[in-house]
Amino acid sequence: MHPKLTRRKFLSATAAAGIGLTLANAQNATQPKPALLGGTRVRTEPFPSWPIFDQSEEQALVNSLRTGKWFRGSGKNVNEFESAYARLLGAKFCIGTNSGTNALIASMNALGVGAGDEVILPPYTFVACVNAILMLGAVPVFVDTDLETFQIDAKKIEAAITDRTVAIMPVHLGGNAADMDDILAIARKHKIAVVEDACQAHLGEWRGKKVGTLGDTGCFSFQASKNLTAGEGGAILTNDEQLAEKCFAAQSNSSPRKGGQRFIRGANLRMSEFHASLLLTQMTRLPDQAKTRDENAAYLTRMLSEIPGILPARTYEGCTRSGHHLYMFRYKKEQFANLPRAKFLSALAAEGIRGSSGYGPLNKEPFIAETLRSRGYQRVLSKEQFAAWTERNDCPENDRLCEEGAWFTQNMLLANRAAMEQIAEAVGKIHAHASDLA
Ligand SMILES: Cc1ncc(COP(=O)(O)O)c(C=O)c1O
Repeated sequence: MHPKLTRRKFLSATAAAGIGLTLANAQNATQPKPALLGGTRVRTEPFPSWPIFDQSEEQALVNSLRTGKWFRGSGKNVNEFESAYARLLGAKFCIGTNSGTNALIASMNALGVGAGDEVILPPYTFVACVNAILMLGAVPVFVDTDLETFQIDAKKIEAAITDRTVAIMPVHLGGNAADMDDILAIARKHKIAVVEDACQAHLGEWRGKKVGTLGDTGCFSFQASKNLTAGEGGAILTNDEQLAEKCFAAQSNSSPRKGGQRFIRGANLRMSEFHASLLLTQMTRLPDQAKTRDENAAYLTRMLSEIPGILPARTYEGCTRSGHHLYMFRYKKEQFANLPRAKFLSALAAEGIRGSSGYGPLNKEPFIAETLRSRGYQRVLSKEQFAAWTERNDCPENDRLCEEGAWFTQNMLLANRAAMEQIAEAVGKIHAHASDLA
């Protein structure tokens, strides 16, 4: 049994930790030994596993199987899911896809993004964002990160706009919203599109509106790790009927929903009836799960903020709700006796709490520059233009974030309050013994 850490006990422990590493020996006497140094681990039981399902999902899949209608053209689940998801998020239209990556590709295609066009995106994100741009023959332009929030630094977007810029892809990273006031204003001013990547931000909000409903399109992922999942899957939201029809045709091999002449290039990016049946069932769990994550994340932030060297990601004032896909924070090793981040994470894992070191600098991935130098790209991006791209491709704040960032996954926020206290207790313990662990 591990002693349960009450908030009062925790605050006195972290206050002790806060008196400085010069008193590390004194703290060692009051804080139990880290598991990595032979002490007792803080948490022995696993965090809730993900996905969560029961007979309802089983029944939904069997029902779908028995209809013999497994394709959206003959069944009704995908249509039903699209209506329900649009209603839940407050959008006029929803188009299901088979992944978040393909939701991004189809919606950018529908917005006319093509060869040689520039699309602005953040460097602190999943590789799918850049891949979606490259798959359309467009040029990704990275804009540095706001270190405190982990989001694209909206103040730096305007300087990155050229006469080739056609879209901004803000990513609501970890479920927190990017700075949509500034992003929408810049897009409006320069008459460029906004493709929100809300793949990690189901039910996240900006000034009371759901993220994914603010830009020209909003793209979601239902891949296995996501807060709403069917193993794989995606969706596009939009309030523009004409754009919705283009997105529909783009994800269904150019077939217009209402028949007639084909008007856009496309591919088979369709959601299956099985996936939609699972999503309809999983959706009934989403509101309660999101509430639990809200409460636990807020509690965890209150506790972790007391530990010197742990900086939970700040949210913008306009972010009225996070989707809480990731619990993100910065780890300042200077406040942990220079204990490297990897060692901090190993010590945490030894306590029964697994964290991740997060993303690396996407803008520096060699395959991106290689793609931009490939034969086809050379036809739309001259040597000089590529040289200019390389020069602009510098994101120092993001480089720093990639060294300091860490996160916990959303399923951990589905545990109880005591589990949040254990996370804080483990971090506090490592802080107190940092010089012994270093
Ligand atoms: C920010 C972001 N964008 C895009 C994607 C791509 O989604 P998918 O894996 O469903 O293609 C993901 C998730 O994997 C993501 O986290």
